[in-house]
Amino acid sequence: MSSEIKPACKLPRLLQGYQPRPCSIVSVGSYVPERVVTNADLETMVDTSDEWITSRTGIKERRLAAANEFTSDLAAKAAKRAMEKGGITGDQIDLIIVATITPDMLFPSTACLVQQKIGAGRCAAFDLEAACSGFIYGLEIAQQFIMSGTFKTVLVIGAEKLSTIIDWKDRNTCVLFGDGAGAAILQSRPDQHGLITSTLGADGGKAELLSMPAGGSRCPATAESLSSGLHYLRMDGKETFKSAVNAMVSAAQECLRRCGLDISEIKCVIPHQANLRIIDAVSDRLGAKPEQVFINLHRYGNTSAASVAIALDEAVSEGRVKRGDLILMVVFGAGLTWGAAVIEW
Ligand code: COA
Repeated sequence: MSSEIKPACKLPRLLQGYQPRPCSIVSVGSYVPERVVTNADLETMVDTSDEWITSRTGIKERRLAAANEFTSDLAAKAAKRAMEKGGITGDQIDLIIVATITPDMLFPSTACLVQQKIGAGRCAAFDLEAACSGFIYGLEIAQQFIMSGTFKTVLVIGAEKLSTIIDWKDRNTCVLFGDGAGAAILQSRPDQHGLITSTLGADGGKAELLSMPAGGSRCPATAESLSSGLHYLRMDGKETFKSAVNAMVSAAQECLRRCGLDISEIKCVIPHQANLRIIDAVSDRLGAKPEQVFINLHRYGNTSAASVAIALDEAVSEGRVKRGDLILMVVFGAGLTWGAAVIEW
């Protein structure tokens, strides 16, 4: 079997010892809820202003899911769009990975619920928790399963209903986040490339910078945990900002180095959409030109694990990348976690 695998890698300068990866991203899809909440809407809820939010974050509006629309619903809609575009049926899918920090329930996994909603067979399904970095973690895991020969077709979804863990009275955090989902289908295809390489990392020493303190085994739900607001997302914005820039730049540079690529050879940089100032700082330090960098943050805010998944789908639909182009994705999130991936689209 392995002798049939001859990937047509288009990169001439791959580092010595690099193993070609016979795995392709067949298709992508995304879904965002209908309800739009603008900065002006938030002005009526907390002491903030469109001017503050725009200048500090770049966000103009975000989407919020309806009360009866759960993370699994957003995920299933994004997945169905990817399946339609790729001509993939439910019974072809061997594994579903859902990256999320807002699962429908702590268990069973949201991936199991998605399996039912998209009409997949009794394939393997699990959730992955790497916060905003989850989608890149998911792509790499999917690729490993495919390369090992365990599975042929893997569905990776980043999906969040962050609106359920946001304190809508806390102006420090409520202006930053939104709901949505993005999906990618990976398949073993000897003649094409998906992820060329990826870098993943984490630093649990900084876990407290961004967390939801209650609801797990450390602090189960009590009347007191609820009244203290411990079930909401908490963040040290300034420290998170600094860590994000440093980690994203290092991860992206490492990925480029491994492929022997210069940033100018990347058609589209897709950074985690958390804050325009983070994106600008990372782009500057990488030497990326503004026209190389894909941004949809102003429309959706930070959708955590869904962020780069939605952005990838939109970059493709808008014609910003064509088959054969090189994409650099770079992410950062709670954990702390980070990751980057060079993809040949
Ligand atoms: N509207 C108006 N004022 C606000 C506000 C809001 N929505 N949120 C905070 N402020 C106030 C603060 O209370 C503070 O007031 P004070 O000086 O009287 O205490 C002031 O604005 C400045 O706050 P500061 O924290 O210095 O702002 P900042 O420039 O660091 O920007 C963030 C704050 C959160 C936008 C920024 O730190 C950030 O984006 N951090 C990274 C967040 C992130 O991306 N997290 C997810 C990573 S995956």
